Amino acid sequence: MPDNDSLKKIFLAELNIAASVAELQQLRVKYLGKKGALTAQLKSLSTLPAEERRSFGKTVNDLKEFIETEISARASVLGNADLRKRLASEAIDVTLPGKYTPCGSEHPINKVLKEITDVFITMGFGVEEGPQVELDYYNFEALNMPKNHPARDMQDTFYITDDVMLRTHTSPVQIRVMEQKKPPLRFIAPGKVYRCDADVSHTPMFHQVEGLMVDTDISFSDLKGVLETFIHRIFGPDTPVRFRPSFFPFTEPSAEVDIGCVFCKRRGCPVCKSTGWLEILGAGMVNPHVFEMVGYDPEAYTGFAFGMGVERITMLKYSIDDIRLFYENDIRFLRQF
Ligand code: PHE
Repeated sequence: MPDNDSLKKIFLAELNIAASVAELQQLRVKYLGKKGALTAQLKSLSTLPAEERRSFGKTVNDLKEFIETEISARASVLGNADLRKRLASEAIDVTLPGKYTPCGSEHPINKVLKEITDVFITMGFGVEEGPQVELDYYNFEALNMPKNHPARDMQDTFYITDDVMLRTHTSPVQIRVMEQKKPPLRFIAPGKVYRCDADVSHTPMFHQVEGLMVDTDISFSDLKGVLETFIHRIFGPDTPVRFRPSFFPFTEPSAEVDIGCVFCKRRGCPVCKSTGWLEILGAGMVNPHVFEMVGYDPEAYTGFAFGMGVERITMLKYSIDDIRLFYENDIRFLRQF
């Protein structure tokens, strides 16, 4: 059995190389545990002659205390070092660039559709919807276009049966809402419409926003005020606006509304065909025949209606020269909005 002095030396050597709190714990067991070296020393006490026991016992106890103090002191040093090491290894470098998650963006048509809707909502208009698969009655008949009416040829219709078709405009929503509600009425009806037509300015599916306002004293000047406000909000307050006489079976009088060419500022260019003006929507006062079809008294009520193409407005707003770009899903195009 080693004497107390060499025990102390061995302990100090081992203490020196202990590199972690866990290793210190092993040292504690090795020296002070039930089967530890010092415990063994104490047990040997009984084998000593009586006169040596006292001083030997004191030496062992001193050594025990010494070992305890040394281990605790070392443990607090190593514990701090462990913590520092952990903090260093788990540190977050806030200057590193973040992880990039690819993210979609709103389609330009939806974006402009929302802008248009917002402008009318601020003017007190509600929002209505109708079906895209529509009956002849709503798409044509009730809009003052009986069978064989020449105006039906203005729109190349996708027929499903003789009486059912893809709607060619959002105007049927006018009829559906007037059948359901009594005046006063003030709403827009955005949505998809379909025509058998395809070139740089036509796709078989496109979007329209219909508008209808009906009350006892609605005049053409109300129509002008609403549409001018709308155009100035979408294209800027200095945009020139022109109302040009036109014809629609469901409005009388009818007008087409032009804005000063956004490309050449009315100096004349190929887009406006040197006229300086671009057509952006159709409008007019609701034809009394239409009121009769829905059971409104044409003597009591007047109203105005308008309809615009969202693709066309988006193209003018962003100077896009080919409507097909909207539906080719080329993300280099779509990302720009
Ligand atoms: N529905 C017409 C079209 O698609 C536009 C329009 C709507 C004209 C309402 C007048 C009034 O061409």
